[in-house]
Amino acid sequence: AQPLRLGIAGLGTVGIGVVKIVQRHAEMLTARTGRPVTITAVSARDRTKNRDADLSAYAWETDPVALATRDDVDVFVELMGGHEGTAKDATIAALNAGKDVVTANKALLAHHGQELAELAEGAGRVIRYEAAVAGGIPVIKSLTEGLAGNAIRRVMGVMNGTCNYILTRMETAGLPYDTVFEEARQLGYLEADPNLDVGGIDAGHKLSILAAIAFGTKVSFDNVVLEGIGCISIDDIRRAADMGYKIKLLGVAQMTGRGLEQRMTPCLVPAASPLGQLQGGTNMVVIEGDSVGQIVLRGAGAGEGPTASAVMGDVLDIARGLRLPTFGQPATSLADPIPAAVSAP
Ligand code: NAP
Ligand code: HSE
Repeated sequence: AQPLRLGIAGLGTVGIGVVKIVQRHAEMLTARTGRPVTITAVSARDRTKNRDADLSAYAWETDPVALATRDDVDVFVELMGGHEGTAKDATIAALNAGKDVVTANKALLAHHGQELAELAEGAGRVIRYEAAVAGGIPVIKSLTEGLAGNAIRRVMGVMNGTCNYILTRMETAGLPYDTVFEEARQLGYLEADPNLDVGGIDAGHKLSILAAIAFGTKVSFDNVVLEGIGCISIDDIRRAADMGYKIKLLGVAQMTGRGLEQRMTPCLVPAASPLGQLQGGTNMVVIEGDSVGQIVLRGAGAGEGPTASAVMGDVLDIARGLRLPTFGQPATSLADPIPAAVSAP
């Protein structure tokens, strides 16, 4: 059988995780898809950097666009990050060159998802992005496949592990926000721009992607009401606990009579509820469908193994010939969302 040949741009936490799975599970991946999954070429900024994997068998491309358009690459795996510049340019180049794309880049999908989906579908290619939302939790597949027969009423959850870590650490250790923020930085949890995490932007990107799939609307990140966790004090957390609540950075997307409501804001949730019980860097997504009722998905939302696991699930779908539209239905059929006026608390 013809191998499925990957070109991987980005050899950081997630990229190296993907390389390791391809190397460790070569036989298993072939058995599961009926064809070998191989890596042809890789790209990152610094070729001299010491990385935690043997890359000697792969061609090196300095320019991700050149990698994305190589004749010996079938799938462009974009693991660089950022929603303008190289990641976007290389993704567009890959689609125009007839490659399928797998990415973990929620910012790219939140800002350019519609344009990329239309380009992919026009070119007969697919973009898969399971890792972009809630890391290792297969929430995209749940919505586009397992729950596809449901009218979705609501999607909500905790989608940024760093914020959940900070809030639970403030609560359990009684430490102030600034101290725990610094601790999170030392542990390497924070994005290069920490405001993406604590400002709710990263989680807002994820929510806007889920809302598009759930409600058949174009991604509209600009209409997510955002409020970060920087304003939460230890006193807020104590007062909430006295009333039997926890404070979580909670995302909620629901279609109301007034339009699509999307908010990512600190919320009180009952301490005894599954969301209230969620500790540390874990994520939880709750989906409510008209036939299935409520589904609760919980697991690691970040990190090398969990995120690479989701990337590989997408790669294997492509190897098996599964070619779903980007947002679960043709991009041209997605509606313009009417944003409901929602204000932050
Ligand atoms: P990372 O550790 O910072 O790695 C980024 C990689 O991209 C590095 O290897 C870097 O090269 C390379 N890179 C950046 N800009 C480049 C450019 N212009 N040209 C070529 N290479 C470039 O990032 P990460 O944590 O693996 O995240 C990758 C993607 O996955 C992001 O979109 C992120 O949002 C998403 N994601 C990450 C996680 C997670 O847990 N880390 C979870 C879910 C989704 P150098 O190594 O040479 O600097
Ligand atoms: N910064 C993100 C988080 C990484 O803390 O959840 C995973 O998307």
